[in-house]
Amino acid sequence: ASNLQQQSILTLLDFSAEEIKQLLELAADMKNNPGAYYTHLAHRSLGMIFENASTRTRVSFEVAMTQMGGHSLFLSPRDMQIGRGEPIKDTAKVLSRYVDALMIRTNDHGKVEALADHADVPVINALTDLYHPCQALADLLTVQEQKGSFQGLKSAFIGDGNNVAHSWMIASVKMGMDAVLAAPEGYGPDPGVWKQIEQAAEQSGASVTRTRDPEEAAEGADVIYTDVWTSMGYEEEQAKRLAAFKGFMISEELTANAAKDYIFLHCLPAHREEEVAASVIDGPHSAVYDEAENRLHVQKAILASVIS
Ligand code: CP
Ligand code: NVA
Repeated sequence: ASNLQQQSILTLLDFSAEEIKQLLELAADMKNNPGAYYTHLAHRSLGMIFENASTRTRVSFEVAMTQMGGHSLFLSPRDMQIGRGEPIKDTAKVLSRYVDALMIRTNDHGKVEALADHADVPVINALTDLYHPCQALADLLTVQEQKGSFQGLKSAFIGDGNNVAHSWMIASVKMGMDAVLAAPEGYGPDPGVWKQIEQAAEQSGASVTRTRDPEEAAEGADVIYTDVWTSMGYEEEQAKRLAAFKGFMISEELTANAAKDYIFLHCLPAHREEEVAASVIDGPHSAVYDEAENRLHVQKAILASVIS
């Protein structure tokens, strides 16, 4: 049995490198040998609360349960009593009597913490304003597949220092990659989260730095990662952000001094010719579809590990 049974997954900061490696190992085995897990979660249910749009997360979690013999429920606050003011506590307690795990996507990380506090089943963060841990695990699996190991790699996140950047930096330093984050002024990481990233790096011995210069970040990088410039909930700032991120598009010029065999990652959805040039995301360095596929495999590993 997994040592993660009944554990909530809110941020990778709560997990040791060893635990992350075990999840990746299980995910890789599930990817190679899905039939061995067809009844692993037979008759189990996952409740999925989505306050925001999703393509990958929704479909991959739903399919993950199906592939292991279980079932998932898509729960929209538009249709639930939570949307009419039912307290988180009552929602958490009641749903815990029906389902074996809960998954939630919401802007407010505090809401996920409250749900996990009150729930009697594990709660999985499917993206908040602060973190996207399931995404970062899929990203790690992709790097492991493409590069064989994390040893000696330089990992560069270039773009908005937001939820996906936070989780990728945490994942990078936990696995011992030398990590750099390049963001324009005013779009850097959350200071509290950054402090924890630095602490995690100190523990693992990885280096972690910040810059405002995307070229400096890309130089010698083995992994170059970006995310949208305008995240969900920030749509009104789009014009301002387009101006602020000028020069941050991942292009062939920007990656000219990256490692020759660098891989390009993007959590998707992507905007071609904004945060990434079409020639990069559609080019030979791009691993974005493997990365999206790996959401399915790592989430199967998460579900199988936390549901007892
Ligand atoms: N990367 C990701 O979480 O995609 P969705 O918003 O489509 O779920
Ligand atoms: N940073 C993006 C990620 C989408 C998967 C957002 O929060 O909208």
